[in-house]
Amino acid sequence: MITLALSKGRIFEETMPLLAAAGIEVTEDPDKSRKLILPTTRPDVRVVLVRASDVPTYVQYGGADLGVTGLDVLLEHGNQGLYQPLDLKIAACRLSVAVRAEYDYANAVKQGARLKVATKYVNLAREFFARKGVHVDLIKLYGSMELAPLTGLADAIVDLVSTGNTLKANQLVEVERIMDISARLVVNQAALKLKREPIRRIVDAFASAVPQT
Ligand code: ATP
Ligand code: PRP
Repeated sequence: MITLALSKGRIFEETMPLLAAAGIEVTEDPDKSRKLILPTTRPDVRVVLVRASDVPTYVQYGGADLGVTGLDVLLEHGNQGLYQPLDLKIAACRLSVAVRAEYDYANAVKQGARLKVATKYVNLAREFFARKGVHVDLIKLYGSMELAPLTGLADAIVDLVSTGNTLKANQLVEVERIMDISARLVVNQAALKLKREPIRRIVDAFASAVPQT
């Protein structure tokens, strides 16, 4: 049995065409079912639904053989025990620093101010600001980062941006682009040895279905 870990929402939806290219269809709709293990048209392949931030953990410890996860989640978690064969070029966005439109970020940085930064990505934010030599107090949040500067909880946020609509709707502006993000296929290293052939076939099919840029 090959187990693929996916999160509901955009990762699940955007992975479906890649699975189809590998000749695999999920036979139950995750939005209509409470099931966490979904069968596929291949009796030897199943999909497990986990929280987006739990995908690397499932694959690292062998709860799943393969998984699809954002580079943001992967880097925040750490790559230990994970083989990362492919950039799937789906769920594309960027990790950025944003502030209230009236906040003079460049000046605060120039003055050496200590910034309060709210984010779900504390490890990535710590590394980024340390590299810049900016002192920060990090505030860990689990969602709706955009609210933090609006309520005075933080001076800045580190969050994902795609269209920029969420920032705009909350009068925030992007002041630094930390990195480009897309979803990655990750594989458990032991599974790669023990189930080499079936995993290689899935990885190859995904690779041929990824749009070339
Ligand atoms: P969790 O449930 O663990 O809090 P989440 O709600 O962040 O996770 P999703 O919103 O489905 O989960 O995001 C999954 C991945 O999709 C992210 O890790 C990121 O790589 C990517 N992503 C997030 N937001 C966007 C966006 N607006 N546009 C494109 N890709 C995005
Ligand atoms: C993500 C991210 C931003 C938003 C950015 O949230 O956390 O809030 O997308 O996208 P935009 O630049 O196109 O507006 P998402 O929509 O995944 O909601 P969630 O945080 O509740 O998962």
